[in-house]
Amino acid sequence: MQNPFQYGKVVSDAYFTDREEEFASIVAEVKNRHNLVMYSPRRYGKTSLLLKITQEMKARGWNVIYLDFYRVTSLHAFIEIYAREVFYQSDNKWKSGLKKIASLVKGIHPVVSIDSLGNPAFSISFDPVADLPQTLESVLNLTEVLNSKQKWLVIFDEFQEITKLNGMGFDNHLRSVIQHHQKSSYIFSGSRYHMLMELFNQPKKAFYRFGKMMHLDKIPVELMKAFLIERFASTGIKLGEDIAQAIIDRADNIPNYVQFIAAETWQLVWLNKSSLSLELVDQAVQTVLDNQKDYFMQIWDTLSIQQKKTLVALSKDNSNPYSLDYQKLHNLGATSTIQGAIKRLIADEIIVFDNDVYLFSDPLFKLFIQLRIVALRRFT
Ligand SMILES: Nc1ncnc2c1ncn2[C@@H]1O[C@H](COP(=O)(O)OP(=O)(O)O)[C@@H](O)[C@H]1O
Ligand SMILES: [Mg+2]
Repeated sequence: MQNPFQYGKVVSDAYFTDREEEFASIVAEVKNRHNLVMYSPRRYGKTSLLLKITQEMKARGWNVIYLDFYRVTSLHAFIEIYAREVFYQSDNKWKSGLKKIASLVKGIHPVVSIDSLGNPAFSISFDPVADLPQTLESVLNLTEVLNSKQKWLVIFDEFQEITKLNGMGFDNHLRSVIQHHQKSSYIFSGSRYHMLMELFNQPKKAFYRFGKMMHLDKIPVELMKAFLIERFASTGIKLGEDIAQAIIDRADNIPNYVQFIAAETWQLVWLNKSSLSLELVDQAVQTVLDNQKDYFMQIWDTLSIQQKKTLVALSKDNSNPYSLDYQKLHNLGATSTIQGAIKRLIADEIIVFDNDVYLFSDPLFKLFIQLRIVALRRFT
């Protein structure tokens, strides 16, 4: 029997729940050619939702380009990946697609080799004397000029990573070209709130107010509970509401970690024939912590005392770390010191600021601190 839960990767179909409102509103925006900026911390389900949008728009006859900026390490890489994605939309007409791309994009030589399975594999070589900004411009304009009737959706995932390429003025080029596009809609998705805000909400920045900002929230608790109950039921196991709630609580309702802890719990029930109980959920958490303890300990060891104290405090209570009461209660020192510590923790992505609260980006690390650090008083 296959585990009814999946985590750490893009999910669809039975492993995917809710997002109906977000889905409908994104589809409507895309159809109206509005650009969108979607933000949430990591592992809330952005890429999975974007995959669903991709499938929907394709079913409606659109071409869709999906590009993950983690894969983009240079302007050359961007041009190659982008041209390839456009090429792959030409399906069985790939020969004419290749010709068109070769004639429309200056400064590159696209080639296609056929692999052992008979599939075309696309790559390009660059003209040594190519004017890169011009090549970038013509590759971005492909969606507008390839076919006058075709509509395109272009998705840039983890878009904040563009800031790594900024030395080249990449964001300015990108904006100056795509702002004129009529047939293409753009979705910019990202997981670093600060960086996205800087790109899209600062008057001096290239992408100032370029798209409507949309915050992807957690999935409502009631729907998440129903999802857990239904997935357990699909393997013949009855999950009570209180246990579903316990799984969600331990995962801070972050979708990835809800499925992670649920998967471990299911495993204990199914493989060890244990009976489902609250204790079993805790046993599942302990198993995960055992598996990850070296990794968590390594992170912990890199932190300063102030960061450790701040994390210990936040693991117990994240209500208002800048209040005097909080500082006294947790023996944290001056506000500026806490601010400094939190700033570093955010830069290292240990903490995220979402919906006005500070959260552990990995709730298991929070549990590690509670159960393995604080309980054993190892932090001073
Ligand atoms: N709609 C959803 N329903 C249930 N679980 C989800 C959903 N979206 C995401 N998840 C869970 O979160 C994990 C990470 O999803 P992903 O789309 O990669 O997030 P992100 O792109 O925001 O980092 C998935 O493997 C899955 O466990
Ligand atoms: Mg993602």
